Amino acid sequence: MVRDIVIYPDKRLKSISEEVEVFDEALHKLLDDMYDTMIAKNGVGLAAIQIGVAQRVLVINLPVEVEEDEFDQPRENTLEMINPVIQTCSGSCENQEGCLSVPGFFESIERYEKVTVAYRDRHGNEQKITDDTFLAIAIQHEMDHLNGRVFVEKLSYTKRKKFEKEWKRRQKEKEA
Ligand code: CO
Repeated sequence: MVRDIVIYPDKRLKSISEEVEVFDEALHKLLDDMYDTMIAKNGVGLAAIQIGVAQRVLVINLPVEVEEDEFDQPRENTLEMINPVIQTCSGSCENQEGCLSVPGFFESIERYEKVTVAYRDRHGNEQKITDDTFLAIAIQHEMDHLNGRVFVEKLSYTKRKKFEKEWKRRQKEKEA
């Protein structure tokens, strides 16, 4: 089921999400709804707080080329991370990022280049992943949401000012 996305600067995005302790049907339904919502909104990642659920749950699904110039995000490719914790990190890199909670805004953000993250899957099994591709960036972006941080908060002072002004202007246009 597709759910509504919480849009910046909604205060819920500042919530520190809580650890999941029960890996039950309700969690599976949440994960399924997160996938449906991410796909419906053309996203590649989503944290539970972005649909208003303050739990340490995130999904990522980077498009794969299934035929020439045809991309897909099959459900079975979804990386579901519950209670993720960065174990090691190294290097730094900059990539263009966007966020379903800040639709239509993209900016270059600095992140670790390589991360190893421990997490649980939907059944509560311990998992670990090491990555140094765009997936590592996506994981860090979504993990920030679990700690109440949105990527625009990582912008430099001047870029942030410019963003806030532009964002307010756009919000006003929408209301008008
Ligand atoms: Co985001």
